[in-house]
Amino acid sequence: MSHEDFPTEKPAVVTCGLPYANGDLHIGHLRTYVGGDIYSRSLRTLGQKTAFVSGSDMHGTPVAVNAEKEGVTPEEFALRHHEKYEATFPRFNIEFDNYGHTHDETNTELTQEIVRTLEAEGYVYEKEIPVAYDPEADQWLPDRFVEGACPYCGAHARGDECDEGCGRHLEPGEIEAPTSTLTGNAAEYREREHKFFAVSDLQDYLQEFIDRLEGTSNAQNQPREWIEGELQDWCITRDMDWGIDYPGEEGDDLVLYVWVDAPIEYVSSTKQYTERVGADTFDWEAAWKESGDIVHIIGRDIIQHHTVFWPAMLRGAGYVEPRAVMASGFITLNGKGFSTSRNRAVWADEYLDEGFHPDLLRYYLATNGGVQQDVDFSWSKFKDRVNSELVGTVGNFLYRSMLFAYRNFEGTPDVSELHSEASETESRAAEVSEEVEARIQEAIDEFEAGINDYSVRKSGNAAVRLAQFGNEYIQRNEPWKLTDEDPEAAAQVIRDCVQIAKAIAVLFFPVAPDKMQALWEQLGEDGSVADTGVDAAFEAPPASFGEPEALFEKIEDERVEELNEKLEARVAETESESDESDEDAEENMDADSDADADIDFEPLADDRISFEDFQGLDIRVGEIVAAEGIDGADKLAKLTVDIGVEERQIVAGIKQLHDLDSLAGSKVIIVANLEKAELFGVESNGMLLAAGDEADILTTHGDAVPGTKVQ
Ligand code: 2FM
Ligand code: ZN
Repeated sequence: MSHEDFPTEKPAVVTCGLPYANGDLHIGHLRTYVGGDIYSRSLRTLGQKTAFVSGSDMHGTPVAVNAEKEGVTPEEFALRHHEKYEATFPRFNIEFDNYGHTHDETNTELTQEIVRTLEAEGYVYEKEIPVAYDPEADQWLPDRFVEGACPYCGAHARGDECDEGCGRHLEPGEIEAPTSTLTGNAAEYREREHKFFAVSDLQDYLQEFIDRLEGTSNAQNQPREWIEGELQDWCITRDMDWGIDYPGEEGDDLVLYVWVDAPIEYVSSTKQYTERVGADTFDWEAAWKESGDIVHIIGRDIIQHHTVFWPAMLRGAGYVEPRAVMASGFITLNGKGFSTSRNRAVWADEYLDEGFHPDLLRYYLATNGGVQQDVDFSWSKFKDRVNSELVGTVGNFLYRSMLFAYRNFEGTPDVSELHSEASETESRAAEVSEEVEARIQEAIDEFEAGINDYSVRKSGNAAVRLAQFGNEYIQRNEPWKLTDEDPEAAAQVIRDCVQIAKAIAVLFFPVAPDKMQALWEQLGEDGSVADTGVDAAFEAPPASFGEPEALFEKIEDERVEELNEKLEARVAETESESDESDEDAEENMDADSDADADIDFEPLADDRISFEDFQGLDIRVGEIVAAEGIDGADKLAKLTVDIGVEERQIVAGIKQLHDLDSLAGSKVIIVANLEKAELFGVESNGMLLAAGDEADILTTHGDAVPGTKVQ
């Protein structure tokens, strides 16, 4: 890629996908925001000038539909949720430099200005198109006011998005067999003039852009089929009165499509930040109009908007293009989707009210899987990771080493006499042993590599691995035995450990800001860890500090049982009260949108097959050697699978459901004696076994080698 590694001289803007202001936040929703907060804090630790911004998405049918259900105006409805979000994020230490909303003056003006520029540059034209209309309600039916069948894959879809099938953005007029969500009646199509943005004029540009784009591989690869295929122009107006007026056409019931003004809030929010702190601290125009490093952190359901429409708009209006898009996977609860209507969720407020510290959840969400992997939350898994990693590894190292230092040296041991010559050397930490200095440097390198690889898991784990080393180091050197035998050696070991503790405070701060600030203060340091950089990891800690306190507390098994029971009871209560067909009010928020659906299991088959029939299937363990998408096919991937005796080419419908780049090396189960088939012109010699609509790939529990027969 052509980008310079972080830290760069440019101002960076880290953004998080705007939550629709239409529901309560649960912990699944927090994943993107926690990731964004950690990423932006980490960039600052590396010395990068960074603004971290977002805002509430106030417009569009996701908000209008729910406001209508509640019988309040969309503005009142959206503002109420906006205020709630604005208050909730800081409670999880998610500290945006600016958190605005799309309905404010800054965003209204900037959106209209950008649309005028696109018009002036010749990217906007008018066209008559069929628009769904409900004759009974006497109303146009934009986006989520209409449902029907996706014209591409046939799945049930919303007016603007095939949310249950291929995931495509749908243009007005595209959905087949349209039904009004207002009355449940069949909708009719009526001709209506709308404005279009000529995305297709920017196809050549987008093809180059996608080669430069950094971030997670799903964001780099998924858009290729759209960008390289026939690129459709984009209808940017809607027949509604809730939204930002099309410039020059105020007064009409015609507003800009929500996806025009929503990403512009990224810029508006940065502008508001500059207005507050001054351009010397952060210059929004330098970042967005001259040369900035723009990093978008989003849910994977909105990749297309961020890698096609948004860069096209930025380019058309003369703004800087995104440097990276990090698209996160979904989150489940005990292996099933969060369901807001069934109260099957751990709500953000509830988590805090149960007395858990926000930093524990931040750690869990950021490091449980890679950014693009799906993450499952359960109280039991949460407990395991807190107890083993935060309490057992990080907390244990910090407490034991600092307590030893406090009791024996009243703080940081003075070992300067032992290093009188070393201070004249190149060493960055003159009083620290070479081994420990090298290990701290390794942790810094891991942290930095994590940020440049767009992996908050990697950067977040750098400090945990350093604590692991610390535990091993103190155990190996047994300073408690040395205090009498060799006090100087004991002092050196503890001096090393205190330096490791300080490095942990610096490197773990982005993940656990409160806890690491507390550690900083326990070390006798002044000020905030936020004002330091990686170099502080090598600077000597103050000579004296008080008795440390344990930073992390163990979660007991009984507590987990109690929380599970509470959750189950609540779900059961909601299910018995609610109408089964209730729709999730928030199903569009990016963290869990397609995981929300409850599964209707197929009935078990009545007919039994004989054992001989079963033996007729040659089912084998395989190992994926390579995986690539098939051009022109939305869902199909071509896999090369090693099945011991030979390599097989197998076509499987997993393209949009898995990160193909990460599949190599995975053990899979295949049916080897299925007759060959040709799919999209590609031969498939076997069948990959996978569970359910999400194509959860079957694998082995132990070490069965490729070729092993499954019986
Ligand atoms: O899908 C969503 O939840 C949208 N509210 C995300 C908007 S992100 C941005 F581009 F505006
Ligand atoms: Zn579809």
